[in-house]
Amino acid sequence: MAPSGPTEFILIEGGRPLSGAVPIEGAKNAALPCMAAALLTADDCVIENVPAIEDVQILAQVMRVLGATVEQVDPTTWRINAAAVHTVDAPPDLVRKMRASFLVMGPLLARFGRATSCAPGGDVIGQRPIDVHWVGFGAMGAALSREGEIYSAESPRLQGASIFMDYPSHIGTENLLMAATLADGVTTMINASGEPEVVCLAGMLEAMGARIAGAGSNRLVVEGVERLHGVTHRVIPDRIEAGTFAMAAAITRGSVVLEGARPDHMEAVIWKLREAQVDVDVRDDGFRVTARRPLAAVNVQALPYPGFPTDLQSAIGVLLTQARGESVIHERVYDNRLLYVHELTRMGAEIDVRGQTAVVYGPRRLKGTDVRALDIRSGASLVLGGLVATGETRISDVWHLDRGYAHFDDKIRSLGAAYRRVVQDPQPVPASP
Ligand code: EPU
Repeated sequence: MAPSGPTEFILIEGGRPLSGAVPIEGAKNAALPCMAAALLTADDCVIENVPAIEDVQILAQVMRVLGATVEQVDPTTWRINAAAVHTVDAPPDLVRKMRASFLVMGPLLARFGRATSCAPGGDVIGQRPIDVHWVGFGAMGAALSREGEIYSAESPRLQGASIFMDYPSHIGTENLLMAATLADGVTTMINASGEPEVVCLAGMLEAMGARIAGAGSNRLVVEGVERLHGVTHRVIPDRIEAGTFAMAAAITRGSVVLEGARPDHMEAVIWKLREAQVDVDVRDDGFRVTARRPLAAVNVQALPYPGFPTDLQSAIGVLLTQARGESVIHERVYDNRLLYVHELTRMGAEIDVRGQTAVVYGPRRLKGTDVRALDIRSGASLVLGGLVATGETRISDVWHLDRGYAHFDDKIRSLGAAYRRVVQDPQPVPASP
């Protein structure tokens, strides 16, 4: 949902190689479920390495409406206490703003025996149903109903169950995992998501007293306990932010160190960069990405982890406009995540899209023009396009970027990009005659 107020644009003069080092923030998609997990206990939960992004603020607000005390202790540390939760009805106006807000359902249902929410909002990247969450809550014995747009789930105590997940949904797994920690008996989740962010959440839950086996695999076994206690937990580094800066280094023929990034979470990305003739030097505390040779075309399939992440599909799509030859991208996670191609084509890219497949013909010279960010990741990808385009690129709807990337402007500028943000006040409405 676009914020009201002055309109912001990003202006980029392309053509400068990026160089230097950039610290990688905590992962958005791990910080959000970890915050929601604090609803499972009445004790304090301290979550460290939380990125300073809009989505964190929105979830904090959702949790405050529920009655939790949510405090930002320092720029990256949050303390949450959910002892005084007084409602289990997630506020629809906030839930509609982003997908992750639906993560409060599992913990509320497990601890308080009831939860309601509208369908969550989020980026327009394809169908985003919640059937996996719903079927799982039902299998654990919750009575499910829907009145208008409000979904309700109710059960005095969830029962451990065997759950087959039609799709290894990322937040679906997280919601069911949190719910299962306080269920009576053993829950087995088959075809679960093994994304690193799920493992991060499972680590937090285990430190709170949950009994979980199989985190990181597609089969999770959870033995429910009576109660969970407080914890201090550190969020893993953001592999999508790291991947975005890696692509920025590669596309500008630069050399950038991604400080604190976890190469073991990024094997598909590192493999594809190397295949495209980009040098990746893995170190103990991150990795360096350097582009010395001409980029080569590669084929990419966006898949659930450990496949190539859909959240970097648009970023590598932009990179491949600069690679010699034909690259084929299959987006297999979302059914409508190639919309950014339209904006890139306006910059001079040559890309054919058929269904969920894009064929990228390269290399093509990109030219700066006016383009629009459509979601968090397409916004970052248009920045990549701007970094290599001739002339000035002007990106609108940049609020998308602020939902997912902390300190993005400072970081990209520190690497040498000619990048600035301008604010334009809304045009005054002419007075009626
Ligand atoms: N799906 C179903 N049924 C469900 C849930 C999902 O069929 O009940 C399908 C969707 O239609 C979609 C696919 O599963 O085609 C993937 O959805 P998934 O549920 O795995 O995604 P998500 O949990 O809603 C999280 C991230 C996304 C990331 C995906 C895939 C968060 C808050 N969001 O979404 O992140 O793309 O996993 O890794 O964790 C982003 O950060 O920009 C972003 C979109």
